[in-house]
Amino acid sequence: MKRKTPILLCMLMTVTLFNMMSCSKKDAAAPSKDQPGPSPDGNGGSTSAPHLPTQLYDYVNTINGMPSYIRNFVNSTPEVDNMPKDNAITNAGATLGRVLFYDKQLSVNNTIACASCHLQKNAFSDPVAFSKGFEGKTTRRNSMALVNVRFTAEKAMFWDMRAASLEAQTLMPIQDHIEMGMPSLAELETKLKKVDFYAPLFKAAFGNEDITSDKISKALSQFVRSIVSFNSKYDQGLNNNFANFTPQEKKGLSLFQQKFCGECHNDLGHSGFDQFPTMLIVENSGRNTGFGSNNGLDEKYTDNGIGEITGQAKDQATFKIPTLRNVALTAPYMHDGRFATLDAVLNHYSHGIKPGPNTGVQLHNGPINLTTQEQQDIIAFLNTLTDQSLITDPKYSDPFHS
Ligand code: HEC
Ligand code: HEC
Repeated sequence: MKRKTPILLCMLMTVTLFNMMSCSKKDAAAPSKDQPGPSPDGNGGSTSAPHLPTQLYDYVNTINGMPSYIRNFVNSTPEVDNMPKDNAITNAGATLGRVLFYDKQLSVNNTIACASCHLQKNAFSDPVAFSKGFEGKTTRRNSMALVNVRFTAEKAMFWDMRAASLEAQTLMPIQDHIEMGMPSLAELETKLKKVDFYAPLFKAAFGNEDITSDKISKALSQFVRSIVSFNSKYDQGLNNNFANFTPQEKKGLSLFQQKFCGECHNDLGHSGFDQFPTMLIVENSGRNTGFGSNNGLDEKYTDNGIGEITGQAKDQATFKIPTLRNVALTAPYMHDGRFATLDAVLNHYSHGIKPGPNTGVQLHNGPINLTTQEQQDIIAFLNTLTDQSLITDPKYSDPFHS
């Protein structure tokens, strides 16, 4: 509720502004006689042009801006970087991707943008168990945080890893009959061609004004790949031997290792036991038989996750292991959002595990019986994974309401 006033104010400011390059405070404060933005078909989406900085934000150099241990890791294991050669991030490409990501006109009735279910303040996840799509129907699974997706080694998107690449993934929600409901990619192209502000953005990004679904997917992928998060208390700790950690946070970190959390929530496929987990990647490090893992949520699963896609016994009820970066911001938890808090998650690992045939070896013996104190210590550690700069960085923010 607290957010209502600023948002309304911003919306007012937005509709009075048309010139897409004008984003100075002065313009925003003064009442403007500018024409309203182009009016696409449909019933009221983002009709005004986005506000973009004259000097584009830097999306390209994100790897250089990362802490050296991450940079070294990526350099020595290049396969963890899923950026394809034919779609390297450019500042103009990711800028177009940002606009598309926040534009409700990508949905059939102009009500839902990618950002409706992937909110910056929640590390690009959604604070509800199931998100609402363009007709108010809810998604089948919990929205996922979009953080360091660029470094998903397995190149497998979604809880069930059904999308082989980010380029393939980005067009899926647009056509999904629950999420955004566009009947076809051809209709999406036709629709965006009628929106004046897109032609120059496509030209800047790809050299010509032609609007194709291939370019839409590429630009969206560039923006999503540019969303990296390596500026948490934990990252700072890796550089100073955790001098910045409280005793409780230190205790939580070592419990996280001792109790094998780090074996699954890690990139152990590429690093040794004695190394600190980077919590960098969300891949099949759970040492399970299949691609993903199972953490013993249910005796009987109603959602078979990866098994539903592959049909293989070893994949039944396994899911992609989610990143724990910014986990304090991404409640509710698990593929179905069943746990509202980290307390509930820790209670599950401590007392609720129901091992099944595909439960990871670390949890085969069932609940790991953490004391209440130990659970709190681990939560204190998980809270160090929050990156405030991610959720406040203007380059990832809504260009229609800025
Ligand atoms: C109506 C809500 C909704 C909308 C709109 C939406 N998403 Fe999602 N997104 C989800 C849900 C739910 C999942 C998990 C789905 C699953 O695993 O079956 C997801 C998963 C993802 C993933 C996979 C992340 C990973 O780590 O595997 C990416 C990437 C993504 N969305 C990007 C986008 C983009 C880009 C758009 C806009 C074109 C978009 N989403 C629109 C709800 C939404
Ligand atoms: C066997 C591998 C494995 C181990 C060990 C493991 N996890 Fe998980 N964890 C998973 C999987 C798989 C999921 C997603 C499960 C699902 O949604 O079906 C998950 C989900 C989570 C989530 C929810 C994240 C989100 O965004 O929804 C948290 C938090 C978490 N684990 C913390 C921990 C902690 C803390 C420990 C140690 C006490 C731990 N995990 C041990 C595999 C593991």
